Amino acid sequence: MPAPRNVLGISAYYHDAAAALLQDGKIVCAAQEERFTRRKNDADFPTNAIQFCLRYAKLVPAQLDTVVFYDKPVMKFARLLETYLAVAPGGWRTFPTVLSNWLGEKLDLRKTIRARLPGLRANCQILFAEHHQSHAASAFYPSPFNEAAILTVDGVGEWATTTIGHGQGHQIQPLKELRFPHSLGLLYSAFTDYCGFRINSGEYKLMGLAPYGEPKFADAIRRELVDVKPDGSFRLNLDYFNFLRGVTMTNGRFHQLLGGPPRQPEGKIDHRHMDVARSIQLVTEEIMLHLAHHAREVTGSRNLCLAGGVALNCVANGLILRERIFDRVWIQPAAGDAGGALGAALAAWHWHPDTPARATGPDDAMQSSLLGPEFSDPEIEAVLHRHGVVFQKLQGSALLDCAVDLLKAGKVVGWFQGRTEFGPRALGNRSILGDARLPHMQSVINLKVKFRESFRPFAPVVRRECVADYFELDADSPYMLFTAPLRSELRKPLPAGVTGMDLLKAGRSTVPAITHVDYSARVQTVAHAGNPLLYDLLLRFERATGCGVLVNTSFNVRGEPIVCTPDDAYRCFTNTEMDFLIMGSYVIERTAGRNGFRAAAMQPRPVEMKPDLKDGPGEWRKSGLKTALGLVILSSVLRWRHILTNDLWLGALVLPGIVAICAWWQPHWFRGLHRLLTRLGLAISQFIGRLLLLFFFFFILTPVGLILRLAGKDALQLRPPREATTYWQPAKAYGPLDRLF
Ligand SMILES: [Fe+2]
Repeated sequence: MPAPRNVLGISAYYHDAAAALLQDGKIVCAAQEERFTRRKNDADFPTNAIQFCLRYAKLVPAQLDTVVFYDKPVMKFARLLETYLAVAPGGWRTFPTVLSNWLGEKLDLRKTIRARLPGLRANCQILFAEHHQSHAASAFYPSPFNEAAILTVDGVGEWATTTIGHGQGHQIQPLKELRFPHSLGLLYSAFTDYCGFRINSGEYKLMGLAPYGEPKFADAIRRELVDVKPDGSFRLNLDYFNFLRGVTMTNGRFHQLLGGPPRQPEGKIDHRHMDVARSIQLVTEEIMLHLAHHAREVTGSRNLCLAGGVALNCVANGLILRERIFDRVWIQPAAGDAGGALGAALAAWHWHPDTPARATGPDDAMQSSLLGPEFSDPEIEAVLHRHGVVFQKLQGSALLDCAVDLLKAGKVVGWFQGRTEFGPRALGNRSILGDARLPHMQSVINLKVKFRESFRPFAPVVRRECVADYFELDADSPYMLFTAPLRSELRKPLPAGVTGMDLLKAGRSTVPAITHVDYSARVQTVAHAGNPLLYDLLLRFERATGCGVLVNTSFNVRGEPIVCTPDDAYRCFTNTEMDFLIMGSYVIERTAGRNGFRAAAMQPRPVEMKPDLKDGPGEWRKSGLKTALGLVILSSVLRWRHILTNDLWLGALVLPGIVAICAWWQPHWFRGLHRLLTRLGLAISQFIGRLLLLFFFFFILTPVGLILRLAGKDALQLRPPREATTYWQPAKAYGPLDRLF
């Protein structure tokens, strides 16, 4: 049987839904659903991302040979049920919602995929990889290594939260795992939540806040919250957490340990929050270092591949690199669940026995992670005309020289070129660029352009050849996934006695806009082959100014996904105080009025709502006819109970007759009635459904859970013995992909 030619990978239903397409094993395209729907971290089935992949490859669903989902839904559902068994009657508040979500389209995913992708052939394989198998595949197969240790660390998949595996050629062998609820991702998210940031997207903010604080709570975290063994395995003390019950992440004991209640979102950030952030960051770094050392020990490999949400912690990654535990470290740029779509597709491709030998070279297979949609000059120009924008068209050297002049003059420039990045970082195609030498650049971009917290640092982008001139780093970092210290000769001493946010006002270095208060920077290196346009821009900027570093931050405002289309970029530009937008070959200046910005363009694009009910003339007609039938039945019952006389009953039958005739000939008259009846029916069925689920929870699941606990059956291993030398468990070989569990 030949290897599948077209393989589509999908991730969805947790956070960051995405789709990725392979053709003959080559990564052709990949994109996150949020970029299309404009809903940050959109977790819905990635209909738009799939449509993009098919359109990009000029395919129709019937040409797909394999569709693969990034986790095993039945295993995940079983874990959910076992969690409720372990905590019942706790968890009753979330049980009806969680169960009704699952009993919908999430559990029977084969059916869902076929329903959402009409036109799939009957013999198109629908496969399911394990969650950490998808992460491991996304880390190993696109890496430049033929052999490597693979470490995946995230919140949770089916059961595993952390795994160590070994990759060689086509094969990935899982070796060890830590299981739910003992999760470094969930621990970090609990602190993210406690510090008032959004789980699954605010972890970066917590990491950015950490350098302002002191690790005053690190000992308390190590003593009370997480027990870490020298081999990196750990267990959480669940007496301090609430996430098993699903309502909040942490409880009163946790808050007491950290000296106060959680910070409210948008609340003031004080020194305690900074100290909490520093403390959990330090403990996370320690665990990641232990994990990396242990992965080296058990695999003997000199190469490391990393993925999973925690692999986006670039401070911990930078430490692993600098400790030289491995000769080389490669991290999947879409290390979170979006990358699971790609990993699942790669796992399915390499699972096939007739797949040709895997070729590796000096470069990875991610194509700089520029895998999303792109727009031609005519497409961009059409958008600009539609918005009535005055622009200048420049090409080649003239465009780059113009950009350099603007940056040199201290302007903030939106930079929209080529294909959209896949993964959470903007890598120079959907970026906002600025001069890193200017002391005010960080606060200007944060407050006037991105409308976000002023404490957050920006990343530098630098040509690969000269990264060591600026940073204590001489390795590839194309995906902005390693932090490195700034070279000491570029630093400026911090004024004595200045702490907290006041450090922001200090100069810090000759490139202050990208220097964090601890002199670190989240570095992106650019090779000419990876992104020639950005490389040339950096080269020209260096020739013009003597500085080869630019600020590179994502092209979006706070709370919105990175822009995808020229329209998104233009809207973002008009809604901020960015000075210039360079989109393809077009240069647009912010001088409202003269350029004729239209008020309409200033409005954010409305989020497209998915319809929650069937609507249309046919449905309205049916509702009208059902109403007429209901009236006939009602009047007949009233007649039967002698409430109506015979004459009145016959007279009353005229009304349903009129209703039926009107419904047939003028169905739109019944549009409002149809919507009302449908919503009412939905609400009643949801209410009854919730009641039934609660009945099941209290009268079946809770007694069974209590009996199991009394019998000492601890399905979740909530408290593995502390005296054990390790918390690692041997990992089972991955099951066949054609099974849901
Ligand atoms: Fe994950």
